[in-house]
Amino acid sequence: MEDIKYVFNVDKDDFVRAGETSSKIKKILRQLGIDSAITRKISIAAYEAEMNIVIHSIGGCIELKITPDFIRITANDKGPGIDNVELAMKEGYSTATDKVREMGFGAGMGLPNMKKCSDRFSVTSSAGSGTVINIEVDLKAGD
Ligand SMILES: Nc1ncnc2c1ncn2[C@@H]1O[C@H](COP(=O)(O)OP(=O)(O)O)[C@@H](O)[C@H]1O
Ligand SMILES: [Mg+2]
Repeated sequence: MEDIKYVFNVDKDDFVRAGETSSKIKKILRQLGIDSAITRKISIAAYEAEMNIVIHSIGGCIELKITPDFIRITANDKGPGIDNVELAMKEGYSTATDKVREMGFGAGMGLPNMKKCSDRFSVTSSAGSGTVINIEVDLKAGD
């Protein structure tokens, strides 16, 4: 089987379309007949990554890769980057503004949830550059 790859653009501050990319990803995985627990993990992680691009970045994209062995989400944005990744990973840590919190975001659980949903997870970022997040969930035989 050939790998399948999709790329979706995600715009900053676009709260109207926010969530569309992760919805599309969920639909694609369902249509491919991917195990529902795996689809759920990927959908949650993709949603959190998508919202972080909308809320915290200046814009970017999300890539979905499906291989016979695993599914990978790569979230890639153009900046401003994360100053302290270890701190950003802490449950409850958020730099979201009051305006964003009023919309129901900014609980500081996005990055920890992405990690929980993943078999392999990485964040590569620094202040002044973009952020790259890799989320992989294995497709185990028999699932
Ligand atoms: N793509 C990103 N670009 C810049 N900063 C980010 C990005 N993703 C996360 N962050 C930083 O990490 C913090 C924690 O992220 P997260 O756990 O998703 O919580 P929340 O989005 O609720 O603030 C954010 O408040 C922000 O400071
Ligand atoms: Mg978040």
